[in-house]
Amino acid sequence: MGVLSNMVTTSNMVTALELLPTSFAFTEEQVLIQETVADMAQKEFAPKAHEIDKNHRFPRENWDLLAQSDLCGLVFPEQYGGAGMDAVSYAIVVEELAKACATTSVLYSAHVSLTAKPIYIFGSEEQRQKFLVPMCKGEKLGAFALSEPGSGSDSASARCMAIKSGDEFILNGSKNWITNGIEADYYLVIAQTDPKLRHKGLVALVVEKGTPGFSFGKLEDKLGIKGSSTCQIIFEDCKVPVGNMLGGIGDGFKVAMVTLDGGRIGIAAQACGIAQGAWDHASKYAKERVAFGKTINQLQAIQFMLAEMAAEIDTARLMTYHASVAQDRGERFTREAAQAKLYASEMAMRSTVKCVQIFGGYGYVTDYPVERAMRDAKITEIYEGTSEIQRLVIANSILKGN
Ligand code: CAA
Repeated sequence: MGVLSNMVTTSNMVTALELLPTSFAFTEEQVLIQETVADMAQKEFAPKAHEIDKNHRFPRENWDLLAQSDLCGLVFPEQYGGAGMDAVSYAIVVEELAKACATTSVLYSAHVSLTAKPIYIFGSEEQRQKFLVPMCKGEKLGAFALSEPGSGSDSASARCMAIKSGDEFILNGSKNWITNGIEADYYLVIAQTDPKLRHKGLVALVVEKGTPGFSFGKLEDKLGIKGSSTCQIIFEDCKVPVGNMLGGIGDGFKVAMVTLDGGRIGIAAQACGIAQGAWDHASKYAKERVAFGKTINQLQAIQFMLAEMAAEIDTARLMTYHASVAQDRGERFTREAAQAKLYASEMAMRSTVKCVQIFGGYGYVTDYPVERAMRDAKITEIYEGTSEIQRLVIANSILKGN
């Protein structure tokens, strides 16, 4: 049932490829992964997205299907159980998932780009075998723990302490806003060894669920992406083996920033998917809804909204692919990722508000999925760095060459 060995080759769906200028072409493999994942997401995930949102239900069966379809290790080498695909393919997959169900796209991206990716980049061979291999198979789910009750944007001021004692770190403190918080098996925790050192004192530790001294705090009741559990995690004298540290003491900030560079491409792709999904519904509705004796897609006010959104979605998508290509080339892509996330997330917010407007009163109730898209879009402007932080990162890149 592996998706890569069983790709469908035909689809009547509007694909990103059709919406792209002819100068940009996907590889044959990228076309196949897009068609296959779009097919699966529309058939399996879209019909349940409303119920998942309404019941705040973590869609375990969606995760299981992603695992059976060989998607959990999409971008990792085959020797670790991955599919060896590139960052553009990853963006394609996240967008197709988000088009159908934003919750599913975020549980997937938190696993792949926020947890498995740093283990692959910074982990030793032993750590890759221990943690990455089961993550690629989908046997273990990942979560990323950087933010704290008192530090979101200012990552260097983390106060969750990791004190080294022999061959263990003793963790004390808490972490907030943890995506996959309840369901994850491995948590990549960024903790402080010496607050005076700020970013130079941070460590990155893989903490396994079930470790004594590790517990859950508040489960958040959110505006959107309601099926993804977001909670606080708490450490009280939680002993973590030194062997679970990625890199060395003082490398935690770099691990977090490099991880977020990749993660932000995923959020940009997610924003494109949320916007495209809402646009698809709005344009279909505009073809059917009659007002003043004609379907509303014949009214210029509606045509202009659809046209403006289509142009902005394509722009955001191209920016996302541009950042992905830079990542695939092994270049520093901090600025490209921040630009893509900034533009795509703000575009998704603007677009989903317009889609609700096209539906009128029907857009404001849960009979149609555009109100959910509007609620889901908002978080893309906040997590993995707010829009204000993206502007800061872009400015730093321009001014300091970071
Ligand atoms: N790659 C590599 N190195 C980087 C880097 C990057 N992208 N960004 C910074 N660095 C390096 C710098 O070069 C510098 O190195 P030196 O010490 O050698 O000089 C060092 O890191 C410190 O950099 P800054 O001085 O720029 O650090 P800062 O304290 O001013 O912070 C910041 C910069 C951009 C504001 C950063 O703190 C940041 O990105 N904050 C936002 C954090 C964020 O996105 N949080 C979201 C949490 S995840 C989440 O949302 C939860 C979820 O589950 C989805």
